[in-house]
Amino acid sequence: MSVTILGIESSCDDTSAAVITDGLLRSNVIASQKVHEAYGGVVPELASRAHQQNIVPVVSEALRQAGVDRTELSAIAFTRGPGLLGSLLVGTSFAKGMALGLDIPLVEVNHLHAHVLSHFIKRNEDDEQPEFPFMCLLISGGNSQILIVRSPYDMEIVGSTIDDAAGEAFDKCAKAMGLPYPGGPHIDRLAAEGDAKAFRFSKPHIPGFDYSFSGLKTSFLYTLRDGLKENPRFIDDHRADLAASLQRTIIEILLDKVEKALAKHPVGHLAIGGGVSANSGVRAAVDAFCRRKGIRAWIPERAFTTDNAAMVAAAGYFKYLDKDYCDLALPPFARVTV
Ligand code: KG4
Repeated sequence: MSVTILGIESSCDDTSAAVITDGLLRSNVIASQKVHEAYGGVVPELASRAHQQNIVPVVSEALRQAGVDRTELSAIAFTRGPGLLGSLLVGTSFAKGMALGLDIPLVEVNHLHAHVLSHFIKRNEDDEQPEFPFMCLLISGGNSQILIVRSPYDMEIVGSTIDDAAGEAFDKCAKAMGLPYPGGPHIDRLAAEGDAKAFRFSKPHIPGFDYSFSGLKTSFLYTLRDGLKENPRFIDDHRADLAASLQRTIIEILLDKVEKALAKHPVGHLAIGGGVSANSGVRAAVDAFCRRKGIRAWIPERAFTTDNAAMVAAAGYFKYLDKDYCDLALPPFARVTV
């Protein structure tokens, strides 16, 4: 009998639903919330309300695109956390209600594990997948981590940020340049036209495999402040060079720790995931780094880098096959517990 999983994602500001049948993706619908743009960041209460408006149409559309009737579902997988509690509550409550109504199992998914397991979303039977154990560089708006992934359930965090995440570094520096939120994609676009060696920003000296991005942000702000003192049009005159230099520095910080972590944990495969893995510079640098090291690079499709339910359904599929179901009383969790 075939297995069909409905995945539901609502951890931050994207409402998403996806359907996977026997491991193959059949639909992945994402409603991104535009309401936050005016505020320069995600407003939790508005995110929660937008999820409430979006969840029913998004789930209906995912089922329609997949050509699946809800009575054909084997289980519902949902993001339990980490994320914004008000946002998570919407997806969690909806998943519970639907599973209860259909009398099918419920599977909880850790959002960060789902980003790692996005490499197991299959569009075709012969799509390749990373081999365990592999290293994953997970870089998003809320996290920057290096993980050793031994199985779909066994992931060890060997390094993580002690302050800002890589995505925050992109977003906060972009905001200082007057770019809209989220700034990461704007920096990416501008960087393509700039000189990556035009400016030098300070890099952290943190022991081990942990990251820090707050010093870089301060160094970037000082460069803007000093430049504006000399030239009120400093940002306009150097927009692309500032973006390219910032992006180069973030990439160097990220890959420096990956290289050190690989020396301690030698593996043959390196994957990246999370919103920042959509960055063109990061993708090219990881590809070049892996060629140099003679290891295999796993770079996700851009659609699977930001929050999406396809990765939740893929993670849920592994758990469903293991009969790793959860209780209807299970609450969502806001903070990282992996
Ligand atoms: O994984 P994600 O969608 O969710 C959160 O963790 O919130 O990541 C969002 C982050 C934001 O910081 C955004 O600026 C960044 O990913 N991002 C990018 C790019 N696309 C998204 N950063 C740099 N370059 C991009 N192309």
